[in-house]
Amino acid sequence: MKIMVVGGGGREHAIIKKLKENQSVTEIYALPGNGGIAADAICVDIGSKEIEKIVEFAKANAVDFAVVAPDDPLVLGAVDALEAKGIPCFGPDKKAAIIEGSKSFSKHLMKKYNIPTADFEVFDNAESALKYLENCSFPIVIKADGLALGKGVIIASDRQQAQAAVNSMMRDKKFGDSGSTVVIEQFLTGPEVSVLAFTDGKTVKPMISSMDHKRAGNGDTGLNTGGMGTVAPNPFYTDEIAERCMREIFLPTINAMKAEGRPFKGCLYFGLMLTPDGPRVIEYNCRFGDPETQVVLPLLKSDLFEIMQACRNGALENTAVEFCNGSAACVVMASKGYPEKYETGFEIDMSGVKDAYVFVAGARISDGRLVTSGGRVLGVTAVSDTLEKAVQNAYEQVKKISFANAYYRDDIGARALSALKQ
Ligand code: AMP
Ligand code: GLY
Repeated sequence: MKIMVVGGGGREHAIIKKLKENQSVTEIYALPGNGGIAADAICVDIGSKEIEKIVEFAKANAVDFAVVAPDDPLVLGAVDALEAKGIPCFGPDKKAAIIEGSKSFSKHLMKKYNIPTADFEVFDNAESALKYLENCSFPIVIKADGLALGKGVIIASDRQQAQAAVNSMMRDKKFGDSGSTVVIEQFLTGPEVSVLAFTDGKTVKPMISSMDHKRAGNGDTGLNTGGMGTVAPNPFYTDEIAERCMREIFLPTINAMKAEGRPFKGCLYFGLMLTPDGPRVIEYNCRFGDPETQVVLPLLKSDLFEIMQACRNGALENTAVEFCNGSAACVVMASKGYPEKYETGFEIDMSGVKDAYVFVAGARISDGRLVTSGGRVLGVTAVSDTLEKAVQNAYEQVKKISFANAYYRDDIGARALSALKQ
């Protein structure tokens, strides 16, 4: 079987490594992949948003199955285009990917189907948004409607900050058209949990829970990033909460999408906040999270390729989705300065790493050497029987990797470990 994976980050590297465990998988193409993924797949220089070229490549190379991993091509309709040419895909079609592509869509969906989320209002012009801010209490959360690389969310602690956020999104177009519409919502508190779930549109099977560390600095300080590290499972997500989420959030969401004529097939990511009033949806993503995938897939005991085919074919109900009992920790090594300005082109030495996965995100090959090429450079994942050991092992391996200007957080897993001790 020839598989094509669209995307080129740490998430895609983790997916590719897992797919390789299936004996029937003979070749994997990564579009575009990266310098580190090149050790596990054939990288092809086609960008993940170049949909026509992706389809052409898949046809010309007789690809048997495609996995579209990033949000952009999913929202642009890559799955529709591939399926139209007879290439089976894992991932939602354009109609279903809107659950991530438009926050106003997902907020209205939750309201209509009574799925618990923060109270909200949607605005498509700056005047009415600013007027609304005159009478609300703070802090308040302002979100650009469309995709904004995880940066389109501003938590405003007072009216002035909120006005500035509305002006920058709606008038100055800081996020382009993504900010033409904004969602203004209630500020919630509580531990955050990421739950990725496989679904074929009818059945939903959640994966092991995880905890992301979104802020750049230790102690959850600094700017929001794509994610600086993850642990799984998330200790705040008890069996009782899991059962409640299944009943109040996961099944109602799958059923709502079906009822709207937008059945969702693929991986649906639930970003949850465990508030004192119960679990609430903070966001949906139409794809695997990154770096969540880098801790979740190493713990998957079942066969990823079989599950992906079952999601595509509507056969998930009778397909096993099982996880190991252990824990995993992933520490992201980034280029100093990320998520703002950073330098790249530095050689990466990871020859000393043992007993850990290195999922490469931002690296390329230059004169036969692996050099940095992005903000998030790689993720180091260790798996162990306890979270404490997984975190310790991940950091031991991180210390064996070197490149100039490397930066990582020292406290990935600290919050989860202290929760376990309580
Ligand atoms: P999002 O991109 O929607 O996941 O938002 C990014 C981050 O902003 C989340 O992980 C939360 O930490 C925070 N956030 C988003 N919405 C809210 C909310 N309603 N209340 C408090 N924090 C929020
Ligand atoms: N780690 C958060 C995301 O993938 O959106």
